[in-house]
Amino acid sequence: MIALSLAEIAEIVGGQTHDIPDPAARATGPVVIDSREVRPGSLFVAFAGEHVDGHDYAERAVQAGAAAVLAARPVGVPAIVVDDVQAALGALARAVVKRLGTDVVALTGSAGKTSTKDLIAQVLDRHAPTVWTPGSLNNEIGLPLTALKATDDTRHLVLEMGARGIGHIRYLTGLTPPRIGLVLNVGTAHIGEFGGREQIAEAKGELVESLPSAEEGGVAVLNADDPLVRAMESRTKARVVLFGEADEAAVRAENVLLTENGQPSFRLHTPTGCSDVTLRLYGEHHVSNALAAAAVAHELGMPVEEIATALSEAGTLSRWRMEVTERPDGVTIVNDAYNANPESMRAALRALASMGRAAQARGARTWAVLGKMAELGDASLVEHDAVGRLAVRLNVSKLVAVGDREASWLQLGAYNEGSWGEESVHVSDAQAAVDLLRSELRPGDVVLVKASRSVGLEKVALALLDTEGEVAVR
Ligand SMILES: Nc1ncnc2c1ncn2[C@@H]1O[C@H](COP(=O)(O)OP(=O)(O)OP(=O)(O)O)[C@@H](O)[C@H]1O
Ligand SMILES: [Mg+2]
Repeated sequence: MIALSLAEIAEIVGGQTHDIPDPAARATGPVVIDSREVRPGSLFVAFAGEHVDGHDYAERAVQAGAAAVLAARPVGVPAIVVDDVQAALGALARAVVKRLGTDVVALTGSAGKTSTKDLIAQVLDRHAPTVWTPGSLNNEIGLPLTALKATDDTRHLVLEMGARGIGHIRYLTGLTPPRIGLVLNVGTAHIGEFGGREQIAEAKGELVESLPSAEEGGVAVLNADDPLVRAMESRTKARVVLFGEADEAAVRAENVLLTENGQPSFRLHTPTGCSDVTLRLYGEHHVSNALAAAAVAHELGMPVEEIATALSEAGTLSRWRMEVTERPDGVTIVNDAYNANPESMRAALRALASMGRAAQARGARTWAVLGKMAELGDASLVEHDAVGRLAVRLNVSKLVAVGDREASWLQLGAYNEGSWGEESVHVSDAQAAVDLLRSELRPGDVVLVKASRSVGLEKVALALLDTEGEVAVR
């Protein structure tokens, strides 16, 4: 963060200073909400959560070096006291980003935000100092905390924006107004909370509505292949840049192939030239993500060869998203257990099918160890059924559905699509899945593990990797 005096911070957030001997003392950052992350000069933001009240940690934070606490009440140590801590944090981020004049790239979508944000960050950071959202901290607290990491040196600020309802993205764009706004796709993630895909499109489109006009430099980067995203063209004053497979897309991929490992390669086309890309990421869905990243980088003036090289060298920055590990005995574990929705389930199953094709030809098996997709509302049964069926259609050798009701729908879908005998099984919990796999896995097998975050299915992947000897991450 840029250094600000406590008096300046109090003015920005409209707060009262308490127990501050020297209002000219400066906070130099980082701004944190976890007292264990306090460094000398930090601003500690005290949130009163359901289980933990940050105010109880104020003293500890100051002892650890925090310059002050942003709090809802006096805490007996230097504090800036406000009525609404979240609003104050937002106001501080807004003021700092404005003062710095940092160019903001914001992105949203139903699936692939974090994967794409990590790609954009790795590409842009080669070009100029870049600050980006760590992991998936894309909400009203994570976003301002990330923005406050920007310094005088920061050229690009890349921010993931998440939404669970109408108005959420508008709130976030109000804090850190983007010049470039990217919408990846409109799927069914959180559809239960939204009500329908049109509502999701309504919410995601708030991003492009917030952009400055084309004359002022605003750029909306939209997925040409997703009709609900493409329709957002009419909701923005910004210049529109399309990416995807459609002919009209300015940034396109041609000759998309998957390597034997399931890593996509393609020829990247941009308005200023072409170059070849082979991703280190797994699954064809990353082609779309890479095109989105390329479109953003192209807008920011990066030459196409540099973009292609950066994309080809980019790895996964955030964990448990198609994390591929080969065990010493030749079993490959694909840990995609960070989260799941119907689109990402389909993408992951397709990736498994392509990764396992060569293995299957050699007599090994592909395994899909899947758990429930949460928050699907009325669509839940149909969507679980469809995923179970898709596993069979893609010729996945074995489906292990883990958990209760939704898992039984997955298994039933597979059964109704023609899986028989032991090809699809339903087990009650993660431990049962691990026991089954431990006794069944053979060298050469490829295992995908995936479910919604709340299922915590990464336990299965981690347990399967917990074998003797070294495990190689590739
Ligand atoms: N373009 C895409 N289409 C479908 N699935 C995708 C796409 N990109 C990534 N995925 C898959 O979606 C899952 C979530 O990916 P990621 O974390 O990047 O998405 P996200 O939008 O940030 O999710 P969240 O809403 O949890 O923040 C992963 O399993 C990933 O492999
Ligand atoms: Mg995310």
